[in-house]
Amino acid sequence: MTMTATRQSKVSHPLFARIYPKINAVAEAHGAIEHRQELLAEATGLVVEIGAGTGANFCHYPPRADRVIAVEPEPRLRAQAERAAADARVHVEVRAGRAEALPVPDSSADAVVASLVLCTIADVPKALAEAARVLKPGGRLFFYEHIRSANPRFARKQRIVNLVWPLLGGGCNLTRDSEQAIRDAGFTIERARHFDFVIKGRTTPSAPCVIGTARKPASPASTPAAGADAGG
Ligand SMILES: C[S@@+](CC[C@H](N)C(=O)[O-])C[C@H]1O[C@@H](n2cnc3c(N)ncnc32)[C@H](O)[C@@H]1O
Repeated sequence: MTMTATRQSKVSHPLFARIYPKINAVAEAHGAIEHRQELLAEATGLVVEIGAGTGANFCHYPPRADRVIAVEPEPRLRAQAERAAADARVHVEVRAGRAEALPVPDSSADAVVASLVLCTIADVPKALAEAARVLKPGGRLFFYEHIRSANPRFARKQRIVNLVWPLLGGGCNLTRDSEQAIRDAGFTIERARHFDFVIKGRTTPSAPCVIGTARKPASPASTPAAGADAGG
């Protein structure tokens, strides 16, 4: 296993850890459950979930996912994920760690899941390089992310709101083009469904979303090296 030495700060968001379950409950009451089911429908074999939060995805893994290694750095969220793991119908093991240095061996996973997390991870290129490292050649990345809007006026609004949003949202950003970041990391996008996640008729700054799948090349030589420097 190649472990990247990291001196990055701890992830600790006590307030966000308290409010995120409530935010997620509202989102799930208005469609996020269906989004999670769509995200995970084709997950098989050994799955690595990065930034698993409270473990909201765990109950939606299909039985074909034999084992899930769920990595979560925030201790309070990780404790909630451990409770969710106990109720999951598939075997879920929750591990402490960051997406930028996954505690998972090289070329061991059939799938990596990124759900509402590329908006928050400090070093997205490094995290995606890690996803590529742990995936078997030809393995798949399943993603569900809110993203920067394709509409320039809305994207400008996102940039302005983003001056304060990360402070309230545990480091979450509204301005990331996560789909492009996935391409830049050497994955091939196979499917990407774009939509506005409108809740109670309101188009919030995090409404523009994408759910999709991307594949790691079958040949490892064509995946950019871990730690390649690029914006997130
Ligand atoms: C908005 S929550 C999403 C949680 C979960 N994936 C979901 O779908 O509900 C963002 C998550 O990213 C986690 N996170 C923040 N920085 C991270 C990092 N560097 N590596 C992995 N996860 C990280 C946070 O602790 C939090 O659990």
